[in-house]
Amino acid sequence: MSICSRNSGAALSVALLCAAAPPALADDRMARVLGAALFERAWVPAPSSTKANDGLGPLFNARACVSCHEGLDRWPVATDADGVVLDETLVLKLSDEGGRPDPAYGVQIQTAAVPGFAPDGLVHVGEGGYAPHALARGPLGEETRAGARLAPALRGLGRLEAVPDDVLAATADPDDADGDGVSGRFVGRFGHKAHAPDLATMTAIAFATDLGMSTTHRPAPEGDCPDAACRAAPHGGDAEIPEITDEIVSLVAAYLAAIPPPTASAPDPEGAALFAEVGCAACHTPALPSPGGPVAAYTNLLVHDLGPGLDGGATEPGIASTEWRTAPLWGLSRALANGAGLLHDGRAGRVVEAIAHHGGEAARARAAFEALDPQAKARLVGFVEGL
Ligand code: HEC
Ligand code: HEC
Repeated sequence: MSICSRNSGAALSVALLCAAAPPALADDRMARVLGAALFERAWVPAPSSTKANDGLGPLFNARACVSCHEGLDRWPVATDADGVVLDETLVLKLSDEGGRPDPAYGVQIQTAAVPGFAPDGLVHVGEGGYAPHALARGPLGEETRAGARLAPALRGLGRLEAVPDDVLAATADPDDADGDGVSGRFVGRFGHKAHAPDLATMTAIAFATDLGMSTTHRPAPEGDCPDAACRAAPHGGDAEIPEITDEIVSLVAAYLAAIPPPTASAPDPEGAALFAEVGCAACHTPALPSPGGPVAAYTNLLVHDLGPGLDGGATEPGIASTEWRTAPLWGLSRALANGAGLLHDGRAGRVVEAIAHHGGEAARARAAFEALDPQAKARLVGFVEGL
């Protein structure tokens, strides 16, 4: 199979891939093992030889999926003394109001590039939040807004994928017909903007934008670089054959789908009751039905407008910059234990802060939370922190 011929790294995973006969995708276990190896694999920057059919770039953020998804968990973001972001797990997205990419930089700032070619630049955090820094190709387009997104934990995603579309479509209430102040639109399932319908699409997007490698879903061999000089730089692909085959995408998606959900201690019933009472559960649905049984992710997977306080700047086509997928709350205790920040860009250190940022459709729930007595508040927060 083509994965072997494309490999120049000598990692164990590669030996495994090349030793194996072409895996039958029906063999689920084998698919997951190979998918895990591909997820962990450090790809190699495209060589200058245009014949070589592999390679990161010309622009990329990291060399492996696992670089940003270490331990499949969420982590705090490290910066240097001047506020320059050192971690790959934070990606600075770019778009205009309608989700169109920046004319020179594309959909995100890539912080790495093939030898001899300049990366887009760096990301800096200051008083105004995350912003591009030391840009290589001139200023951003006039209409371009930038906004940070953090790598989410990748546990239990197969369970979210298993929730049928019609269940999600039926929960959506885009015009708020029931007048409860909470609407919610069904867009997709994955990414903070729910812009990817399934794991294979999210994987293809990651290969294209984070690693600079093409797939049939994202065929441009140069990845995320609209700039002419960038398109002419080594990228390892050609227009006809994607660098990453559909088979590789399916193996990685099969691996991700099989990762079990995070485990939590038994939830406190009184905290759970308060959570429902103040209206958190209107979006953070405790369990969604699926053919394999209830999915206790505390999300309805819909996108909601959380108001100007959570305007993410950059967005995706058809999704407002203030709209976000209801964050699944399962695994929250794990994120907190790692010291990871909450919300799409990690701006909230604690659950109370995350709640304080809820506006728009969540304004009523936030107000109801704030009206609780201190003891009830603590009970509700303790419940969420334990998930
Ligand atoms: C440079 C860092 C980086 C790399 C490399 C990276 N990711 Fe991600 N990943 C992210 C960020 C940031 C997000 C959130 C993106 C968004 O919301 O638009 C994300 C989101 C995801 C999600 C959606 C999770 C959810 O809860 O909806 C999946 C699945 C995923 N990545 C898989 C992958 C795979 C597979 C690869 C390798 C092909 C990969 N990622 C490489 C940073 C990265
Ligand atoms: C109208 C829908 C809605 C309601 C109501 C709502 N939330 Fe959220 N919540 C969201 C969305 C959407 C996000 C993701 C926002 C982001 O990433 O910036 C979120 C994120 C969070 C997060 C951060 C999770 C993480 O993993 O980073 C916490 C904690 C949270 N909500 C708790 C609550 C609590 C507690 C309540 C009730 C007081 C509540 N929410 C009510 C939609 C809602």
